[in-house]
Amino acid sequence: MDRRTFLATGSFGMVATLLPGAAGAAAAITTTPDDLFRRIDFVSDGLGLDPREYAARLHEVVARDGLAADYYSRGGVVEQLERSFARLLGKPAAMFVATGTLANHLAVRRLAGGDRRVLVQAESHLYNDSGDGAQALSGLNLVPLAAGQATLPLDQVQAWVERSRGGRVRNDVGAISIETPVRRLDHAMADFAELEQVSRYARAQGIGLHLDGARLFTLPLHSGRAVHEYTALFDTVYVSLWKHFNGASGAILAGSGEFIDGLFHERRMFGGALPAAWPSVALVADYAATFEADYARAWSAADALIERLQASGRFTARKLPGGTSRFFLSVAGVDPAAFAERVRRRGIVLAQPRPDTGELPLQVNATLLRTDPAELARRFMESLPEA
Ligand SMILES: Cc1ncc(COP(=O)(O)O)c(C=O)c1O
Repeated sequence: MDRRTFLATGSFGMVATLLPGAAGAAAAITTTPDDLFRRIDFVSDGLGLDPREYAARLHEVVARDGLAADYYSRGGVVEQLERSFARLLGKPAAMFVATGTLANHLAVRRLAGGDRRVLVQAESHLYNDSGDGAQALSGLNLVPLAAGQATLPLDQVQAWVERSRGGRVRNDVGAISIETPVRRLDHAMADFAELEQVSRYARAQGIGLHLDGARLFTLPLHSGRAVHEYTALFDTVYVSLWKHFNGASGAILAGSGEFIDGLFHERRMFGGALPAAWPSVALVADYAATFEADYARAWSAADALIERLQASGRFTARKLPGGTSRFFLSVAGVDPAAFAERVRRRGIVLAQPRPDTGELPLQVNATLLRTDPAELARRFMESLPEA
């Protein structure tokens, strides 16, 4: 989900408040009991489950698996997830963290050690959306580079490493954090060849490298590079459990055995050890197992929808260079906000249009698989005012 993308307002039935993984801070989305698991949601990263949908799935999973509870985020289903995500991410060890915000913070804090300068992308979540937590709580100095770009170029990294080393008071760079895809840049991804170069350089310099891979699992479809190819370049990796995998919250932080060993003390120090994490993560294993295949099918459905809409001559779709899960739709001769509201009455959730261009941002996820592209296109066309 993109919490800063406001939803179109309106309703199609009785109000149900959404979980954090769904449409969040904006207007409440509405469903009737008959609508469960039927909404087509172009806003969320995942399925945007509402509380009744989440409760139904939770009941199903508990009845099927007899889920083992954790205690203070240790043991039970949490430990099982840590093991399976360590495998998925190709790292020896992994730890559950209550939020991605804390996972990034714990990662750069431990990687940096005594060298307190940390290089980050100017558009990253760590730099913009974490309340300067790493600065305030861990005394790190985050240096924002490559403003407006998804890719952090090697020459900028190199220049700052050398400048830090050669200052009047030597103050080495201890860690570099890279986010890809970048949420603030409409989920554009960093260039893989540049990641390889930065990784080689960081290793040669003994500088820790962290990946904010909150939405890492969309990358392979767009870059042709497997998750393991990305994670192999980094010392530590964070992936969100609630964005793609429909948890109620949570994150995984993976790295070497030495890195993860004992880290749960710091998690608890920051108040990040949930006394019972299991209700938040119970659904994650199922969705993680099928995410990449479902996402690829969802994009096939999105492409078929785009083709039908463009053929009508009333819609234009735009994809970003280096884009991943988002595309933009323009509707000719129509107030886009009013159009989004009419689409919404047909069970399709759209974000508000961009104020500058009037384009509607559409997020591709597995809710597109709840109907076929022809039916989806029909509902969009029906929402146009009479020509
Ligand atoms: C790229 C990125 N990193 C980190 C986070 C933080 O995750 P959480 O909301 O679980 O703290 C987010 C959340 O929106 C994000 O988009």
